Amino acid sequence: MARPPRGRPRRPSKRRDDLTEIFEAPAPTRPTPKAKPQKPAPKAPAVDPVFTLSDRFEILAICAPGQESALCDELTQQGFANPTAIAGGATVMGGWADVWRANLNLRGAARILARLGSFPAAHLAQLDKRAHRVPWADILPQGVQVRVEASCHKSKIYHQKAAAQRVETALKDCIGAQIDPEAALCIKLRIDQDICTLSIDTSGEALHKRGIKQAVGKAPMRENMAALILRSCGYTAGEALYDPMCGSGTFVLEAAEISAGLQPGRARRFAFEWVRGFDANAFAALRASAPAGDRPAPVFFGSDRDGGAIKSSNANADRAGVADLCQFTCASVSDIAAPDVPPGLVVINPPYGMRIGERRPLFALYGTMGRVLRERFRGWRVGIVCPDAGLIRAMELPFLPQPQQIMHGGIRLGLYQTKPL
Ligand SMILES: C[S@@+](CC[C@H](N)C(=O)[O-])C[C@H]1O[C@@H](n2cnc3c(N)ncnc32)[C@H](O)[C@@H]1O
Repeated sequence: MARPPRGRPRRPSKRRDDLTEIFEAPAPTRPTPKAKPQKPAPKAPAVDPVFTLSDRFEILAICAPGQESALCDELTQQGFANPTAIAGGATVMGGWADVWRANLNLRGAARILARLGSFPAAHLAQLDKRAHRVPWADILPQGVQVRVEASCHKSKIYHQKAAAQRVETALKDCIGAQIDPEAALCIKLRIDQDICTLSIDTSGEALHKRGIKQAVGKAPMRENMAALILRSCGYTAGEALYDPMCGSGTFVLEAAEISAGLQPGRARRFAFEWVRGFDANAFAALRASAPAGDRPAPVFFGSDRDGGAIKSSNANADRAGVADLCQFTCASVSDIAAPDVPPGLVVINPPYGMRIGERRPLFALYGTMGRVLRERFRGWRVGIVCPDAGLIRAMELPFLPQPQQIMHGGIRLGLYQTKPL
């Protein structure tokens, strides 16, 4: 997490004797000049009624496109009422305690945004005026360090940087905010068809950064994406899991943590800690009130042919507090066998060659993976993520039709699944 926002250095307040001096000064000897006729004071700008963050507001949980329904599933399981899937996320209504809970407990969300409200603006001057009307002082502390990110879609305002600057100016004018591109706290402005929507990114660093995994391999899967893949594969707490290409151990650690009832956000900080009204004690209670289930059976397995990856997986499991539940082995996929536990889920994020010349040698690897799973993993279900249907066919496994499509870094991945083999 980036360093916390610092308050703006305050001017020393006037001492009491200074004030006495002002109020008890002798009457001026010269006649006071006649007061000029005053212009009528400008009317206080009307506060937009949509900008009231006190009670209930829209909360947006973001995920990779294609994983929305799995995220809605998780929101429902976590007690959020009526989640609605939208492209790249899901929305619920709630208050600040729900925002804290979502950040702390959701495994599948990449970030949690709190919607401040929307207004129309067809040009920058209008945006500037309306951004100044937002009651920033009710939402953020004086002098907070903050940054603004803007995006424009099909709108007359098309210059993202200029749009962001208008909100930055409002923040500086209204609460003396310090605009810092490194600030943990981010205000997001989205302009879509001339409607400006302002949100607070309440997470800060993306939620896949759980604050635990330090050792990562070459192409690690994001924790939140891995968690939703497990959910889509019907993974349930306590079920055995094997990842034969585990890299830094993402799937294995997620399964072990889910089964141990650990909160994904237990070891990190969040941007909402710098929003007005944050109650550190109430949040600490939420952190501590995690349902600590019984310690599950140690049925979480990973292997990889790369010894460095196994070292990373072990170190990560240790930091996560699940080392006693996980077993990592250095082995090529051709040498693995099913562990001696009731069959569960094999989940794989294999290498897939995206550059010319990388794909052809992979057919043999995928063929071997398929053969090993068919011959040695009877009764286990398989879930595999890959953008290449040709490589998947080379596995000769009875995959179910219509793999789930997940967009990841501009690549369309398919999540291919089998019933128990
Ligand atoms: C895309 S990475 C997996 C990343 C992993 N999901 C994570 O989150 O860190 C693919 C992994 O497959 C491993 N691998 C490639 N060929 C292998 C083989 N023949 N046997 C076992 N592992 C292999 C690589 O060492 C690499 O760690």
